[in-house]
Amino acid sequence: MLLFSFQVLLNNGASYGVLALNMDYYAMRCPFAEMIVRMTVNQALQRDPTLAAGLLRTHFHDCFVQGCDGSVLIDSTKDNTAEKDSPANLSLRGYEVIDQAKQMIEYRCPGVVSCADIIAMAARDAVVWAGGPYYDVLKGRKDGSRSRIEDTINLPPPTLNSTALISMFGQHGFTVQELVVLAGGHTLGVARCASFKDRLKNTDPTMNMYFANMVSRQCNAGDDNTTVGLDMTMNSFDNSYFRALQMGYGLLTADQTLYQDAETKGFVDRYAMNQALFFFDFQRAMLKMGNIDVKEADQGDVRLNCRKLN
Ligand SMILES: *[C@@H]1O[C@H](CO)[C@@H](O)[C@H](O)[C@H]1NC(C)=O
Ligand SMILES: *[C@@H]1O[C@H](CO)[C@@H](O)[C@H](O)[C@H]1NC(C)=O
Ligand SMILES: *[C@@H]1O[C@H](CO)[C@@H](O)[C@H](O)[C@H]1NC(C)=O
Repeated sequence: MLLFSFQVLLNNGASYGVLALNMDYYAMRCPFAEMIVRMTVNQALQRDPTLAAGLLRTHFHDCFVQGCDGSVLIDSTKDNTAEKDSPANLSLRGYEVIDQAKQMIEYRCPGVVSCADIIAMAARDAVVWAGGPYYDVLKGRKDGSRSRIEDTINLPPPTLNSTALISMFGQHGFTVQELVVLAGGHTLGVARCASFKDRLKNTDPTMNMYFANMVSRQCNAGDDNTTVGLDMTMNSFDNSYFRALQMGYGLLTADQTLYQDAETKGFVDRYAMNQALFFFDFQRAMLKMGNIDVKEADQGDVRLNCRKLN
């Protein structure tokens, strides 16, 4: 059994103890949890492969806002507008997949498996389903109770340049290399025209002209909601995202900027050339991301319904 201990840091930098997540956390407590999540995700992706991107992104948003604590799943109430209802939520999908897995797990082992862990497992299963690397997910997270729209300011907007991205990821403890490898998650999914239309309007010189023309034909003026693939193979987890950046085919400013900055460009080139290296580094970065501000038992609980506080 691999134990993975680390210091948990509060926002102000104070450490409140050592928390051990571990791979076998549910081995005795709820042995079928991992299998139920995998089956549910696989069935859902068979019906709709585009959900893979949504599930991966949901884990990322969860971890970047208040730590990996399932708070991204909480619905707004009349007194509280939740993270979910931020404009940044538009790329998040697959809530019903999480709900379905949660229901089946609750039926077998009530009150044991946290929503935060289910998201982390579902994101991994989505990556694997799409052809990406398998990695063991550490488990034992508790669910948090705070979900506020204003906290989503911690998410990187699609217009950030590499300097700002390096700084934002740095605040979460990520190196420049880990920023680039996590950006590789954009090998899955799409972006709405609203997220990159300024690049078209201002003819961003870092955008390949042929690509700009092609994309302009898909996004009519005033149409924010049409979506365009973030790379050419939007439902397969591969390194074509990095090869796209080399050609000026990055869709968002926050993608293409990684090829324009000398600090990040070398990593893009390496992953473009070597998919196995991308996969290897991606697994490690995902483990690290899954550890962001994880909550201990006295700081969270296991929600019975991922959308509502107990
Ligand atoms: C995202 O937020 C908008 C409001 O900004 C809301 O109308 C919409 O239902 C949310 N989408 C999801 C998938 O939660
Ligand atoms: C990156 O964006 C920030 C503002 O978000 C700006 O101050 C900075 O000059 C930009 N850096 C580069 C290299 O364009
Ligand atoms: C785009 O989608 C959002 C959220 O679903 C909706 O509120 C908005 O009216 C749509 N805009 C257009 C131009 O269709």
